[in-house]
Amino acid sequence: EQIEKGGYEHFMLKEIFEQPKSIHDTLRGRLLVEEGIIKMAGIWDHLERLNQAQKITIIACGTSWHAGLIGEYLIEEFARIPVEVEYASEFRYRNPIITDKDIVIAISQSGETADTMAAIKMAKEKGAFVYGICNVVDSSISRVTDAGSYTHAGPEIGVASTKAFTSQLTVLSLIALKLGKHNGHLSNQEFMKLITELDALPKKVEEVLESTHENVKEIAKHFIGAQNFLYLGRGYNFPAALEGALKLKEISYIHAEGYPAAEMKHGPIALIDENMPIVIIAPKQGHYDKIVSNVQEIKARKGRVVALVNKGDTQVASVADFVIEFPETSECFSPIIASIPLQLLAYYIAVYRGANVDQPRNLAKSVTVE
Ligand code: AGP
Repeated sequence: EQIEKGGYEHFMLKEIFEQPKSIHDTLRGRLLVEEGIIKMAGIWDHLERLNQAQKITIIACGTSWHAGLIGEYLIEEFARIPVEVEYASEFRYRNPIITDKDIVIAISQSGETADTMAAIKMAKEKGAFVYGICNVVDSSISRVTDAGSYTHAGPEIGVASTKAFTSQLTVLSLIALKLGKHNGHLSNQEFMKLITELDALPKKVEEVLESTHENVKEIAKHFIGAQNFLYLGRGYNFPAALEGALKLKEISYIHAEGYPAAEMKHGPIALIDENMPIVIIAPKQGHYDKIVSNVQEIKARKGRVVALVNKGDTQVASVADFVIEFPETSECFSPIIASIPLQLLAYYIAVYRGANVDQPRNLAKSVTVE
């Protein structure tokens, strides 16, 4: 097992550090920047059907569901097809309106999750075309879906999903850009700009790992005794906040909640005092000025702020208690970059608390029963 961990203390840390490679593998052979094309067999064969969808419903559980939420932002922004995202466990029991004009995208790292599997079967019975995004090759879900794309992140052993998540986001980005380019909603110029940025992601992920690792390790020490955490983000980074909170809950057993930053004033603000650490994802794009005022509101109530900001940020950085800098990219790809320090933060807090990060209590890597 030590050999399999490749010198890392845990599989989770190894998998976090593998992300420059896993994202590169997800893109390999699919993103051809010089030719200006995205080549994905699964999509290519069904491009018309996908583009003519009246709506796309994304079904998944846990981390994969968070990836689905970001998928909704991506597909609606670039391909202008309406998207709904549902927990597979809810979808399967509520007789949803699904017809043969619908596309269902099922996302699953393991490809074995019972609720996702049952939801796919139901969607197929209703005539939908089901597209799978799985990591495990030849898994049950990849076999039962009509078409699909593998994430190619490589085996993920740690129960807490890390590299599979960023690869899911990468595949969803490819799909959204491919559909948008094909149906004309995305100009050639915009498409080229975005695929160039997508191509630069493995390098940026490497950069963020190098530049934040030691800093995050230190920051984590301040929160060993925390009992609660709030994670906030807006737009594309709202689901990234949900995912950051889930990582912390799963492995450190600290209660954590993710919220869209603007929802803070509709309830969670009542919880804020000096005992409430708040992680806020605040890249320069999106509604940066609004995030700045959120941070000020939190500080006025003595909340302890860990801010994830772009390199060179001064506004949020000057008021936050702890700052984690990450490189700039388009807003739509920023969750891929921001997730890396969030994974590290959860990892180190859990390790310092003596938790078994690779096999957290009560959790299984794939939930094959209801
Ligand atoms: C992720 O850290 C979790 N362990 C869990 O939420 C997981 O994402 C969920 O069970 C779905 O698994 P799947 O992607 O294999 O379907």
